[in-house]
Amino acid sequence: MIPVILSGGSGSRLWPLSRSAYPKQFLPLCSGYSLVQDTVLRLKGSVADEPPVFVTANDQRFLLADQVQALNLSGAEIVLEPARRNTAPAIALASFAALERNAESVLLVLPSDHHIENNEAFLQVLEQANQSAMAGNLVTFGVVPTKPETGYGYIKASGSGEGASQPIEAFVEKPNLELAQQYLEAGDYYWNSGMFAFRADVYLSELKRLNPAIYDAAKASWDARNEDLDFIRVGVEAFESCPEDSIDYAVMEKTDKAVVIPLDSGWSDVGSWQSLWEVQDKDEQGNVLVGDVITQDTHNTMVHASGKLVTCLGVKDLVVVETADAVLVADINQVQKVKDIVKLIEASG
Ligand code: GDD
Ligand code: MG
Repeated sequence: MIPVILSGGSGSRLWPLSRSAYPKQFLPLCSGYSLVQDTVLRLKGSVADEPPVFVTANDQRFLLADQVQALNLSGAEIVLEPARRNTAPAIALASFAALERNAESVLLVLPSDHHIENNEAFLQVLEQANQSAMAGNLVTFGVVPTKPETGYGYIKASGSGEGASQPIEAFVEKPNLELAQQYLEAGDYYWNSGMFAFRADVYLSELKRLNPAIYDAAKASWDARNEDLDFIRVGVEAFESCPEDSIDYAVMEKTDKAVVIPLDSGWSDVGSWQSLWEVQDKDEQGNVLVGDVITQDTHNTMVHASGKLVTCLGVKDLVVVETADAVLVADINQVQKVKDIVKLIEASG
């Protein structure tokens, strides 16, 4: 399996640490390595221990190239998108790159902002995914939901499959709260983890059938590519003309080739300060304290100090993030809205 690492996002909910010029996937948030590096390192010794294809925005190329170089990954490729067109076109470009290596390449598509608790369990599921993908399925990894999260896709398995993978009866990307609540209560829906496994040719033929405009633009930009030692640069004009859409809406909601394999490995999307707090080791008061921090009578709080000493006294359920030019103080239960603050900052110039 060829790992396809998607790292084009901006991660605005982790402001002020994550910036458009230095997004979260390049930060060492969960270990001594960055999220993007963790994504590759966790595949060591697995069925997907092959040179990855990275797909990223043109303006993130040096950050990514530095971090890839530090891992000594020979044969890794970096495909640059001249514009942000979401994941359906990005994965099409990776598929074309993989087909150049081998006509039967199986891709393992991985977002670069996930935390996995139990790597052994994850690697076992990859073996099953590889088998199912080789047979022509578009494989998703289903996580048992714990709350009515509206930022995820929901998958209903048909329960009729043989072996580990089940055909999908329904795939609903980002339902509203009412539907998410219904799915949670129904008990037979999974969250879509955002990782996928499929043969590159199968993805491309489904994309062509279900969304020919995206396929055509991605193909034209691939055919107009320029390659040097470091980067694959696709044709700018063709890619800019590509409609924007995610794989979830463009393909997964519509295809009849989708299957789901349950994933029970402690998965989380490190999308917000709250989710970062959730996956990290806490002290006895439930605090995660990074950097020069002193607290007293402080509970369930995440403090991230970059340069200054940060002190907290008599507070709970807070996120405090200090950086050289900005400070965030927020209710930990409202940090999904940090992206609204970022919009306000952008609007104020
Ligand atoms: N190269 C590239 N280009 N990467 C991109 C682009 C793009 O234009 N847009 C997003 N990405 C990357 C992001 O950096 C991230 O690693 C991954 O693709 C997924 O994009 P998100 O924007 O984070 O998607 P999401 O979280 O809203 O939804 C997806 O993930 C959920 C689980 O975390 C969907 O697959 C949901 O169904 C799923 O539940
Ligand atoms: Mg995400």
